[in-house]
Amino acid sequence: MPTLRLGDAAPDFTADSSMGMINLYDYLGDGWGILFSHPADFTPVCTTELGTASKFKNEFDQRNVKMLALSVDGVASHAEWIKDINEVQNTEVNFPIIADEDRKVSDLYDMIHPNANSTLTVRSVFIIGPDKTIKLMITYPASTGRNFNELLRVIDSLQLTAYHKVATPANWKNGEDVVISPAIATDDAKKIFSKGVEEIKPYLRMTPQPNL
Ligand code: BEZ
Repeated sequence: MPTLRLGDAAPDFTADSSMGMINLYDYLGDGWGILFSHPADFTPVCTTELGTASKFKNEFDQRNVKMLALSVDGVASHAEWIKDINEVQNTEVNFPIIADEDRKVSDLYDMIHPNANSTLTVRSVFIIGPDKTIKLMITYPASTGRNFNELLRVIDSLQLTAYHKVATPANWKNGEDVVISPAIATDDAKKIFSKGVEEIKPYLRMTPQPNL
């Protein structure tokens, strides 16, 4: 199985989940998606992550991003675990968790890294664009919970740069100035970016975020 890379088609699949059978492409429709794996049910870091993710659902909705979690345990186990998550995180898990008992989806997305753990998934994140290609991949070890503010930040960057000829600098946050794509000559940039162009170096030109 070839390794997935940025720009590749996100492998489609149909799998059982805590909310019934799900086909990835149907589930995503023409929106964006985030697929994130968890090593196992009833584990402490995963419990905090899924509680946090459910509290962030409005933020993902606002960005037209469908959420889809995955763990290698079964539907019955997910149902019991979700009760715990809701209780201890004071929330309501409001998106599906794939029950990947046969590791079909984990294998498709290369979420099991045998030198880390031979049977459990690592903490993979895939962001999938409306064209069903992979826009971003991040991998964390089981011992490190993800930062959901960072996931929203990269989605803001991905969605901005998909539609405007800009890139986002280090530590950029929604609302801050952005970098003009190196492919655009400064004279052309001045016509395109009506809010102004600051030329710091010929290759480093900044402009206010164009979609605000
Ligand atoms: C956890 O979610 O807490 C966890 C899972 C597997 C290994 C280590 C931690």
